[in-house]
Amino acid sequence: MKILVLNGPNLNMLEKRNIKHYGALTLAEINNLLADEAKRQGVSLTFFQSNHEGKLVDAIQEQRGKIDGILINAGALTHYGYSLRDALVDSGVPVVEVHLSNITKREKFRKIDVLDGVVIDRIIGLKEKSYIVGLEKLINYIKQLNARR
Ligand code: DQA
Repeated sequence: MKILVLNGPNLNMLEKRNIKHYGALTLAEINNLLADEAKRQGVSLTFFQSNHEGKLVDAIQEQRGKIDGILINAGALTHYGYSLRDALVDSGVPVVEVHLSNITKREKFRKIDVLDGVVIDRIIGLKEKSYIVGLEKLINYIKQLNARR
């Protein structure tokens, strides 16, 4: 099983951002936690982060046919990134969305989520644990899909 792990704008700067919202880990540390979990489950992960919506779209298109699922923290693109949304739909694979902070309890613009209806699940507000829970949910979903095939 192969999973693409995508991170959007500003997530490369986690250690310099608000700890209260985003926790204290760097993106590299979060990716290491994900890699440990993936190893335990025999799953292969590909990591990609960009501050540019088009580059995230390119990464999704390049992985077409090579992956079984996508785990994504789209950062602020969550709230307005329609081309990213379209690329996720067109990928044809299940997508789980994660957020470090609880986007439902912050500014009004963060309550809008353009990935709604595209993702099979959304894990929010657990800081780095959102990624681990999100990965587990995605792996289980893909396993169930494969068992039905
Ligand atoms: C975020 C929430 C977004 O609203 C914000 O723009 C981010 C991070 C999160 O993980 O909580 O950059 O996606």
